[in-house]
Amino acid sequence: MTRRALATLATHLLLAGAALAAEPTLTIRADQPGPVIHRNIYGQFAEHLGTGIYEGLWVGPGSKVPNVRGWRKDVVGALKALKVPLVRWPGGCFANEYHWRDGIGPRSKRPVKINTHWGGVPENNAVGTHEFFDLVEQLGAEAYVNANVGTGTPQEAAEWLEYMTGEGEATIVQQRRMNGRDKPFRVHYYALGNETWGCGGNMRPEYYADLYRHWATFLKTPAHNRPQFIASGGNDRDTTWTEVLSKSIRHNFDGIAHHAYTFPSGKWEGKGAAAGFPEAEWIGLLSQVGKIDAVLTQSRAVLDKNDPKKRLALYFDEWGSWYDPEPGSNPGFLVQRNTLRDALLAGLHFHVFHAHAERVKMSNIAQMVNVLQAMILTSKDQLALTPTYHAFALHIPFQDATALPVTLEHNPVYQLGGTQMPGLSASAARGKDGKLYLSLINANASQSSELTLRVGAQAPRSVKGHVLTAAAMDAQNELGQPAQVQPQPFEAQAAEGQLRLRLPAKSLVVVAVEG
Ligand code: AHR
Repeated sequence: MTRRALATLATHLLLAGAALAAEPTLTIRADQPGPVIHRNIYGQFAEHLGTGIYEGLWVGPGSKVPNVRGWRKDVVGALKALKVPLVRWPGGCFANEYHWRDGIGPRSKRPVKINTHWGGVPENNAVGTHEFFDLVEQLGAEAYVNANVGTGTPQEAAEWLEYMTGEGEATIVQQRRMNGRDKPFRVHYYALGNETWGCGGNMRPEYYADLYRHWATFLKTPAHNRPQFIASGGNDRDTTWTEVLSKSIRHNFDGIAHHAYTFPSGKWEGKGAAAGFPEAEWIGLLSQVGKIDAVLTQSRAVLDKNDPKKRLALYFDEWGSWYDPEPGSNPGFLVQRNTLRDALLAGLHFHVFHAHAERVKMSNIAQMVNVLQAMILTSKDQLALTPTYHAFALHIPFQDATALPVTLEHNPVYQLGGTQMPGLSASAARGKDGKLYLSLINANASQSSELTLRVGAQAPRSVKGHVLTAAAMDAQNELGQPAQVQPQPFEAQAAEGQLRLRLPAKSLVVVAVEG
């Protein structure tokens, strides 16, 4: 062989080696169990906003739409199937002006108010405390109640808690009994305020910290029905609130609620469209999950400094996609379509929350029905389960599972124009049923990816589960066409001592790993 031929052969061998080495390899460290992924990471948020509650969930007991004491049977049934672990209510910004006494007693006598935050529409208070607890009890979910620090008083916040949880002879407790509820309600979480840096009062963190200390002094319940008390925290990448609150509050303080939404443009003004978008807006949205990871990493560092005994939890109680209002809709109703892109966005958030499960003990997607990144869209007596619904459904085995570390070598970079992100994302856990579960995302909108899977040093025997994907980036389930994006069976077997998976472009895969 000539020297030139030898050199060419060597170059080819090098390139082939590099190509082989560059193939993504995912290793699950099943021998290094991490924290439990609290089931409330899969929590929901239902606000008095648009048709999120009225129409979407509540039709009233006299409606022709089949219902149980006013709550839609079809929607509640679909949410039960999703094993919704927790619901936050009544807002959001709505909570900042909500007076709980407006929502108790005979419905015909309740005052009508104007929902000043959301569309300026009448709020007849048909859904109040008793109705909310009926919903969570029908769902088998925990209750997260958000008190009004905007226009409320410490007395009102303390009395609401007493009304819900009190057991004795106090008149306020008798009033609850007269309104039909003898047994106290179980309040799992109670927050003072919402977005107090903005719609909750435009406060400074130092001012709110003092206010929280003052109000929290008067929050009293029977010891066996004490909720986790939550302070309203910061927004987006800002961890100042986490810093100030965790330094200044001590009493009746169990966690801080952070919010971060994602917009395809990355900007509040001109967020981008929910459907019919270019690939730049696909990657524009998905790549922003990096900021969620960054703010959680930074918040954990702050908490580790101020709360080394890890008493405080981080609650991410509003997250999800937010787009420009759907043309023709009331802009105050936050109606948006929900596509395959939203399902992948949800999956990427889950991976980040699992990775930070040591501190992140609850998250609430905004919102449950008909508002922002919803699970369900309704119109009259019809409903469609969104791609986001399916992303939540596929991850049910991760509720209360034990997180397992993963390493992803040679993760391909997904790049378009000036934006880039990791092409693949993965998260693994040991489920409560003892099985090993793996969630995988290929964010690349046009290229599939091959992946070699290992558990420790071994190749597993097989994987079996589901894939969620579609031909179009904005494939969606619409009313009348509710089955465009559906999980499909997915499986792979080991061959010649290797288990290789092919992840289609723009896909979410959740499998049980065997062997
Ligand atoms: O989820 C919609 C709104 O977004 C909430 O009311 C508010 O807290 C946030 O700004």
